[in-house]
Amino acid sequence: MDDYKKILKIDGDNTKEYFLKSVYEKTQQQLFLEKLLKNENHEKNYKIADVACGGGGLSYHLKNDVFPNAEFHLFDYLDDAIELAKQVNKENDFNYYIDNIYDMKQASNFFDYVFCWQTLSWLDNPKQALSELVRIAKSGGKIFASSLFNLDHDVDIYAKVLDHTKESSKDDIFGNYNTYSLYTIKNWLKGMVANFKIIPFNMDIDLMQNSRGIGTYTKKVTDSSERVQISGGMLMNWGILVITK
Ligand SMILES: C[S@@+](CC[C@H](N)C(=O)[O-])C[C@H]1O[C@@H](n2cnc3c(N)ncnc32)[C@H](O)[C@@H]1O
Repeated sequence: MDDYKKILKIDGDNTKEYFLKSVYEKTQQQLFLEKLLKNENHEKNYKIADVACGGGGLSYHLKNDVFPNAEFHLFDYLDDAIELAKQVNKENDFNYYIDNIYDMKQASNFFDYVFCWQTLSWLDNPKQALSELVRIAKSGGKIFASSLFNLDHDVDIYAKVLDHTKESSKDDIFGNYNTYSLYTIKNWLKGMVANFKIIPFNMDIDLMQNSRGIGTYTKKVTDSSERVQISGGMLMNWGILVITK
């Protein structure tokens, strides 16, 4: 079991609460994604993958509000996540897989859309994960991945975090909080896709700091309407990577 899975298991109640939060109330990133999808054909019976689906909140909202006729396939390596996703989506006829993002059992060239939400930054091997997301998408299919990206500097930041507000910190299990540069993403995707872009995700609303642990909140930049996003003391440069294969 890798360290991230250990953290999610040991902090099980927090994990469940985190997953369910995005089901009960759409996150700002979910709302942003839905705006990005507004010109897609909403009636077609697309094949959609939600990779590292957590509690299945992203698919829940996409099925209800964006792609009512699509066929959804949800993947995660955490059995508890898949169980929760099944409960959350009990009204929906979804397909579920306990599967590892680095070596998916899924056939290649299968999906019209592949979503991978808030996951690449948490991984030890994001390059391999990204190549799997591309592999399972159809030629001409689209991949949407939200993660931390460095658009202003050709610098990758591989950060290890220990959140002392969480039970898992007592065993000194560190998690990742990685930021990947545009430079690196370009290299990773070279020769594999038709095109890609990274759209910065800025927050339109104020989020309060409600714990001393990890969790995004905002601060207004003086003399500007912009907000910076902070989590655990780190600047969060969120972006949405949009790829056409
Ligand atoms: C931060 S959560 C995001 C969950 C969900 N996408 C969301 O937005 O709520 C990251 C997810 O990645 C999954 N994950 C991490 N490493 C994985 C791996 N190697 N294979 C499959 N899933 C993985 C975790 O189990 C967790 O559900």
